[in-house]
Parts: sequence; C-alpha cells; structure tokens
Amino acid sequence: MLKEVTAARYVAPLTSGGSVPAVVEADDLGTYVVKFTGSAQGRKALVAEVIVGELARALGLRFPELVLVHFDPAVAADEPHQEVRELHAASAGVNLGMDYLSGARDFTPEVARDFDVDPLEAGRIVWLDALTVNVDRTVHSSNLVVWPTRGVAPARLWLIDHGAALVFHHRWEGSDPAKAYDFRHHALGHYGPDVRAADAELAPKVTEELLRSIAAEVPEDWLAGDSRFATPDEVREAYVAYLHARVRSSGAWLPTDFPSAETLAEENARRAARTQRGRPDWLKRVPDLHGKPAAERDWSAHLG
Ligand SMILES: Nc1ncnc2c1ncn2[C@@H]1O[C@H](COP(=O)(O)OP(=O)(O)OP(=O)(O)O)[C@@H](O)[C@H]1O
Ligand SMILES: [Mg+2]
Repeated sequence: MLKEVTAARYVAPLTSGGSVPAVVEADDLGTYVVKFTGSAQGRKALVAEVIVGELARALGLRFPELVLVHFDPAVAADEPHQEVRELHAASAGVNLGMDYLSGARDFTPEVARDFDVDPLEAGRIVWLDALTVNVDRTVHSSNLVVWPTRGVAPARLWLIDHGAALVFHHRWEGSDPAKAYDFRHHALGHYGPDVRAADAELAPKVTEELLRSIAAEVPEDWLAGDSRFATPDEVREAYVAYLHARVRSSGAWLPTDFPSAETLAEENARRAARTQRGRPDWLKRVPDLHGKPAAERDWSAHLG
C-alpha cells in the first residue's frame, strides 16, 4: 500500500505542469510533487499515475516513490494566485505525491544531446507506454527527467507523469485492448528502442495477480462516481481485465519500424510550414500550446 503523509509546508507551485502541481514538504521530512484531485485533469489522471507508475516500478523501471498526501488548503494559504488557491480548496483531503527529485532536468532534445540512451531501456519504456496507451511521452513533452545531475551518482532517466496514460478509461465501452499504439512521436523513438526484447522480458511479468495488487493501491474515492460500475472494486477489475487482455495481444500493438530522427525532423518541418501557412497573421505570433492540460486535449484519435 502507498505510504500516507501529511503536507506540512507549501514550497511552490510547479507552473510548468498543466495541472499546476505543488512542491510540498511533508511530516515525514520528505519533499513531494503533489498532483491534486481538484485539477482540470480530474481523478482519472491520478488513477493512471498510480497504476502506470507502480507497474513501471514493478517492471524494474526508475520511477520516484508515490505517496498519498493529506492536504489541508490552509497549509498553502500564502499562495498569491486566486486560481491556484481555488485548485487547493477543491482538493482538500487525499491527493497524490511523488518524491521530488531535486535538480532533475527535463529530458528535452537539448539535454538528450549529452546523454546516452540504452536501446534496451528505451525499448522497455516504449513498451510500457504502448501497453498503457500513454499518449504523453513525446518529443515535445517527454515526461522523462534526468537525475541526479550533479555528479554524485551517474545521471539516469526517470519516468514521471503518467496522468495521460490509460486513455481507454475515458471511454470504456467498445475500447479494444488490441488497438495499435501511435508511437511515431515517442520521445525515445529514435534511440533504436528494442521493443521486441522488452516484450519478451516484460510481458510474462504482467500477470493478473500483479495488476490486481497494483489496482488495489488506488484510493476508493478516486474510483467512485462512474455509473457504469457499481463498486470501486468493479472499476479495479476493469483495469485488470483490460491490461491483462492487452498484454496478451502485444503482437497487435507492438511498435516497431520507428522513423529515423531525420524523417521526423522533415515531417515536423513540413507540418510547421503547413500550420504557419494556414494561420492568420495575428495567430502566427501566438506560441503553440502543446502543453495544454490533458482534459482540454482532443483525445478522439486515441479512443476506441
Ligand atoms: N518528481 C519530480 N521531481 C522533480 N521534478 C518534477 C517531478 N515531477 C514533475 N517535475 C517537474 O515538473 C514538471 C511538470 O510535472 P508533470 O509533467 O508531472 O505535471 P503535469 O501537470 O502532469 O504536466 P503536463 O500535463 O503539463 O505534462 C515536469 O516537467 C518536471 O520538470
Ligand atoms: Mg508532464
């Protein structure tokens, strides 16, 4: 079961995150990134964080510890922004905390230039994302960080932010566990990810027992409120059944045939030129909002 802590001090909001998570210190002296139940992304994003994150950990991937954080909005009373205070007010109670990796750097194309990615590790990460239909580990938003960065130990890739995985839970009816995964813009696509080796190594580990023990870690409150299911345990079983069916049909979704870095760069340039041509002059001055909160993105292409 996830450890429970209580937020004792509000350090800062993480404004780079679409859901405006907070960095807090807790009564166990740990520092955590807190994702709030009251955010626009909603509780399903937190369910995805727990299920995919704990699955990653069980499969041996690097993923910071998760905890349940009791949060009293009074702790953050000095937060100056009204919108952020409203988010806190809507999130009193149990929220999700992730161990804060101090000094971690986002794995951007720039950081990637000085960093070697092992094709086997890349394969395991792409495989996990394909299994869990994670649509948010792209070149533009890698949700990977490099840590530590100050030479105390070798810098490694860590997974963060699985709130946009398990896309199928936004529309359970008719969603097909064998559906192909759109991997063309995956952040690790051009490191030669050995996805077949990952499938051979990891698929046998994803048993119903493992999935059931992970689903049991999701707090009941985050699972309630979906009229298709009578009880939280029924929702848990739906995740277990879907992911177990999906892992058994990996032949249907295993991403292979990754485009080369050059092909991707050409595609991106062509798309940017097309987008620019089609935009009125005033819009050309507005930056692209690729970091839109998950709830505002168009999910239709990934559902079903
Ligand atoms: N555990 C962590 N340790 C250190 N930094 C972190 C951690 N979690 C998140 N961050 C930093 O905060 C940023 C935003 O976090 P995250 O992507 O989880 O938020 P989000 O609100 O789900 O974002 P979005 O939906 O915009 O991708 C990350 O890109 C990273 O720089
Ligand atoms: Mg993110």
